[in-house]
Amino acid sequence: MFNPYFRPRRLRQNENIRRMVRETALSINDMVYPLFVTEGKGVKNPVNSMPGVCQLSTDLLVDEVREVNTLGIPAIILFGIPAKKDPMGSDATSDEGIIQRSVRAIKDAVPEMYVITDVCFCEYTDHGHCGAIVNGELDNDATLEMLGRQVVTHAKAGVDMVAPSGMIDGMVGAIRDALDENNYANIPIMSYAAKYASAFYGPFRDAAESTPQFGDRRSYQMDPANAREALFEVELDVAEGADIIMVKPAMPYLDIIARVRQEIDLPVAAYNVSGEYSLVKAAGQLGWVDEKRVALEMLTSIKRAGADIILTYFAKEAAGWLSE
Ligand code: PBG
Repeated sequence: MFNPYFRPRRLRQNENIRRMVRETALSINDMVYPLFVTEGKGVKNPVNSMPGVCQLSTDLLVDEVREVNTLGIPAIILFGIPAKKDPMGSDATSDEGIIQRSVRAIKDAVPEMYVITDVCFCEYTDHGHCGAIVNGELDNDATLEMLGRQVVTHAKAGVDMVAPSGMIDGMVGAIRDALDENNYANIPIMSYAAKYASAFYGPFRDAAESTPQFGDRRSYQMDPANAREALFEVELDVAEGADIIMVKPAMPYLDIIARVRQEIDLPVAAYNVSGEYSLVKAAGQLGWVDEKRVALEMLTSIKRAGADIILTYFAKEAAGWLSE
């Protein structure tokens, strides 16, 4: 009979030794909680496809941020749903836009919360694309100029970090220039550098009311079949001055997170997107999986793959689970 000489099970015999040899520790310190802000007062619209997630008006948003702060979550990322959409997404570049007013309200009430804004136009344009449409197509360079104006309004409102998500060529450089020229050299950029054209964004588009009215986003977001191209996208954003590199979605792209971690020495963020959240929630509600264990395993896998920062709708629940 074969008598194994190596017995890795020796180090799995009880929780204490498992704790000692554990390689990855999930921490609330690494999490960013996404929030959706809408117009009005006292408004709390549950997002049907994302149980536990609501669109909130600014007053309730501030209450929510207080709670997020109490839970020890260091940062939020804000998405806005404006009162009015138009072809140029003008709410996004106005000092009185929904995001600009919300950032001011949060910074007044909870100044210690680290506030990140998503920088894109898809929630603000009536066509639902991520920038200016010229001759039926997203015009790259016209959008760069708009992004520059957008970030300066966010900076004026008091944002701590901006996160461009449109996959527009040159967006990081254009945003860096606009910030620096306006004396905001200290505001970092977290670039959605490798963002895939993913069906996992479906529930988010309900939450943010940002579904494209024609076509899709495949002419600017990446083909899910490509990995080397992700590294090229990341290298470009590093060269343009990105401070943090993001991979999105997270769980179906763990190989990309691991490769970016290996090649790049900047902090790596991963966006555990709406579809990843809703799949776990739905199966949990049906009693088909143990929601808490599946969610923690998913978040741990993202960390293990190499993400330093995880943007996740599970952040509030994770704060509770991790302190149990
Ligand atoms: C674009 C943006 C999207 C998400 C974050 N920023 C949607 C898209 O590209 O269609 C998706 C996040 C998620 O699915 O949770 N502003």
